[in-house]
Amino acid sequence: MEYNFSRAAHNMRSSAIRNILSLAVRPDIISFAGGMPGDELFPTNDLRELVATLTEKQVQEAMQYGPTSGYPPLLEALKEWLRAKGFPVDTNRLIITTGSLQAINIIGKIFINPGDVVLTEDPVFIGATSAFKSFEAELKGVPMDADGIDIAALKAALALNPKFVYVTPNFHNPAGLSYSPQRRAEFIEVMAQTNIPVLEDDAYGELFYSDDVKPLIVPMKTTAADEQRYFYSGSFSKVFGPGLRVAWLLVPEAVYAKAEVCKQSMDACSPMLSQVLAYEFLRTGKMQTYIDQLRTIYKVRRDCMVAAVRRECPSEATFVEPKGGFYLWLKMPHGVDEEVLVRRCVNEGVVFVTGKTFDPDEHPNGYIRLSFSNTPEDQIETGIRILGEQMKQMMA
Ligand SMILES: Cc1ncc(COP(=O)(O)O)c(C=O)c1O
Repeated sequence: MEYNFSRAAHNMRSSAIRNILSLAVRPDIISFAGGMPGDELFPTNDLRELVATLTEKQVQEAMQYGPTSGYPPLLEALKEWLRAKGFPVDTNRLIITTGSLQAINIIGKIFINPGDVVLTEDPVFIGATSAFKSFEAELKGVPMDADGIDIAALKAALALNPKFVYVTPNFHNPAGLSYSPQRRAEFIEVMAQTNIPVLEDDAYGELFYSDDVKPLIVPMKTTAADEQRYFYSGSFSKVFGPGLRVAWLLVPEAVYAKAEVCKQSMDACSPMLSQVLAYEFLRTGKMQTYIDQLRTIYKVRRDCMVAAVRRECPSEATFVEPKGGFYLWLKMPHGVDEEVLVRRCVNEGVVFVTGKTFDPDEHPNGYIRLSFSNTPEDQIETGIRILGEQMKQMMA
């Protein structure tokens, strides 16, 4: 039987990350592929205890449909959490989403008509490009340098009159870098001369690995004079548990109204049990304590990977040291084709994701993404040694 699928379905591509993970099925494989928290780091004991303390009413609420905008106590707690971080919560509305991927999909669905241009960074988080492509957007990638998005290229791309600009200024996936304060200011200034909105994705903003970085990674939504232009998405996925799918959008009232109706038809409400758990974790102060612990652990993993790459890989393989987040974005030396490299490394028991996955046009770009978040130090050292050996053999 031939099925007559929609144009949207024809535009859908399976994530190369998921494909490569299914190739790498050996139980002993060392994986730098997945952008996920460490399994063994989840606060499982705290969660067990927390479940035991839920009231009968909370358990009932957790099993019931809830408001589309979110579990009211969580919305209140999150509002205060965001207010304390300087977000304009009184001039915007908050909506809980089922992962920030849903937030991205909602913005895509309520803004994109087929053929509309959307600007993204290049490289870019593949989940976002897949979402925008499913609404038949024309994607235009804007290159980045070590300080963030290239302002001259952004100005040129704005001439295409995009529907919105999608950016991840903090601990970018996959590029690992954060916009410098000056680049943020330039971005805000350039955007202020247009009437084009910005989707600011801050999935990793809590994961900075030294205190001196914190003042540098201030979300643009908290500083821009025209903050109504900025749609802010945040998530507990990377700092609590992606399986819970608790994330949010902070948007102006008019966008909120459309987003809520849009979400009604997607899933009516985000999982209530997850929201009750996230609320209790926030209310009891455990969220902040846990995030602080995660920072310490991920910092050690980041340091371990940075040192191992410097030690084991050819010096022509360069990168910008990530100050937070999960990723090291490694530029391949001349003579090393990353698609060949990944196949050789999988044979030797190491897997990672090649750069073309994150190219808006899916072109090879001479980079690989190494994720250090879900790999203990001993495996990072072994895995990077194998990676370095393979690179050196290819260059010989
Ligand atoms: C930049 C970025 N945004 C959003 C997401 C989606 O996260 P979630 O839907 O789990 O909140 C991810 C996950 O990898 C990401 O890297």
